[in-house]
Amino acid sequence: MPEPVRRKLAVSSWTMLALALVLAGPTLAGNGGVAPPDPVSGNAENVRELYWLVLGITGVIFLVVEAALILFVVRYRGRGRPRDAEGPQVVGHQRLELLWTAIPVVIVAVLAAAVFYKLPDIENRAEASAPGDYLRIRVEGRQFYWRYVYPGGKVSVNEVRLPLGRKVELEITAPAFDVIHSWWVPRLAGKMDAIPGKKNYIRFSANRAGLYEGQCAEYCGAQHALMLASARVVPADEFDAWLRQPPESLGRQTFEAACAPCHGGNGQGLIGPSLRSSTVVGDAEALRSLLENGKGNMPAVGKDWDDTQLRALVGYVNRTFGRQGATGGG
Ligand code: CUA
Repeated sequence: MPEPVRRKLAVSSWTMLALALVLAGPTLAGNGGVAPPDPVSGNAENVRELYWLVLGITGVIFLVVEAALILFVVRYRGRGRPRDAEGPQVVGHQRLELLWTAIPVVIVAVLAAAVFYKLPDIENRAEASAPGDYLRIRVEGRQFYWRYVYPGGKVSVNEVRLPLGRKVELEITAPAFDVIHSWWVPRLAGKMDAIPGKKNYIRFSANRAGLYEGQCAEYCGAQHALMLASARVVPADEFDAWLRQPPESLGRQTFEAACAPCHGGNGQGLIGPSLRSSTVVGDAEALRSLLENGKGNMPAVGKDWDDTQLRALVGYVNRTFGRQGATGGG
């Protein structure tokens, strides 16, 4: 190899190595290191255990392969031999061949056994449970927010409220006119796709109160990255009391989830136009129709909403941004 090429190669390898080391630091430091976040449900615990097992096995394989690679590179390096010199001819090595067949089979068997052992505890289902076994909450993925419908019809947006220690079943879906999303709050459960017109179920019970954050995990359009999901786990009696109350601030909640990602948190305009100069905003009927049908780049964010939610949003937008005074309800 000509000297300049060799030098260039050496420099770029060292640069790559340095870059990898620099990037490894922040990766380990962010999100609590390489581990999945601290689980607060049986589902997430099992996902985490499987993760460690797979990481352990693949980590050992990585070390063995890389060590062998370095050993061979050093031990069998050229040492000035001509490029076309033939190496020793080796034909067959029965013990080695048996070993490199048997070891991977054992590894795959261990992985498969562990997964099948853990699977029954990771409760992802294609069918709904029998009525009454679980508290069922409908989760709709929409461009670009999450809409939750609780037993009795109460609605919340982006943040789902869950009772501590009670078995819940999330019915995860998307409206037929929407696209695929994926509901993912890692401390509670693995990802589950929200597919238009299809229902998927995850079941778990959260074992610690708190606010757990997540993210839509399926690319769904321009504002996918802003499509956050979160779950607030509260004591069961507090949950029951909340469920009985009429929705507080549903208008603002809906605005922040369904409108703000495109029109800005203060309606100042972002990838969607500013709401402050909009004539539609002051006209409750026009606004309603726009929400239900969409227009141009704007998806039909409010299609299929119940009247309470639609009125709440129209009222909120009207009061906050309308120049002709409030004409909507909610
Ligand atoms: Cu919804 Cu990505």
